[in-house]
Amino acid sequence: MRKKVIAANWKMYKTPDQAREFFREFLPLVKDHDRDEIVVCPTYLCIDAAVNSVNGSCVAVGAQDLHWEKEGAFTGEINAAMLAAVGTTHVIIGHSERRQHFGETDDTVNLKLKSALEAGLAPIVCVGEVLEEREAGLTDDVLRRQCLRAFYAISAKKASKMVVAYEPVWAIGTGKTATPQMAADAHTIIRGEAAKAFGQEFSDGVRILYGGSVKPQNAKALMSEAEIDGALVGGASLDPKSFAAIVRY
Ligand code: PGA
Repeated sequence: MRKKVIAANWKMYKTPDQAREFFREFLPLVKDHDRDEIVVCPTYLCIDAAVNSVNGSCVAVGAQDLHWEKEGAFTGEINAAMLAAVGTTHVIIGHSERRQHFGETDDTVNLKLKSALEAGLAPIVCVGEVLEEREAGLTDDVLRRQCLRAFYAISAKKASKMVVAYEPVWAIGTGKTATPQMAADAHTIIRGEAAKAFGQEFSDGVRILYGGSVKPQNAKALMSEAEIDGALVGGASLDPKSFAAIVRY
């Protein structure tokens, strides 16, 4: 039985004070929750406030991105060692918004994945098709390509902390959700690529989350699907009551 991961992606929302306020309300609602792993990924600026707030609780803190180099002249960037040093344990990699707006490619996803694993972080690698690709029947090809290139030249041993998130781009922030069956089909493709890259044992254990308009109302149906090992939640994770309701689906 794979333990589910329920992760919040706060995107470009909340100041440190607002982050502290969120945790004041959220933590009592998920106190002693150990059925699932809970991760909150705020902006870099809120990581310190988040790490201090969750101290001693069952909630972990992740970042939303990282740079793959160890250090150097990369204005505006932050690397894996820096994230680990401030208490971050997880990091989202290859989110579709980074791919769409900030030039993220399958190759930079691979570099970031390697460097996050090297630093001992648990990466949440995002893959998913855009609407045109789904309509053209290319979903499987896109997922295979994204996984093949993300997982390139990484050993199963190194990849042990990796989590994958299937996020169909047409479902992000749109209120449209993949049906549990659509998500399960995509997860089977991703799990197959993980088996090719890392072997069957790894593939049986890797957690594959679903993301895209997950809400308290649809969390239970999605999480009941055996292939879905958790959720990556954007909009509905900003409100403590709503995110807690998803965690407790
Ligand atoms: P959403 O975002 O839940 O607002 O659709 C999900 C995501 O982008 O990770």
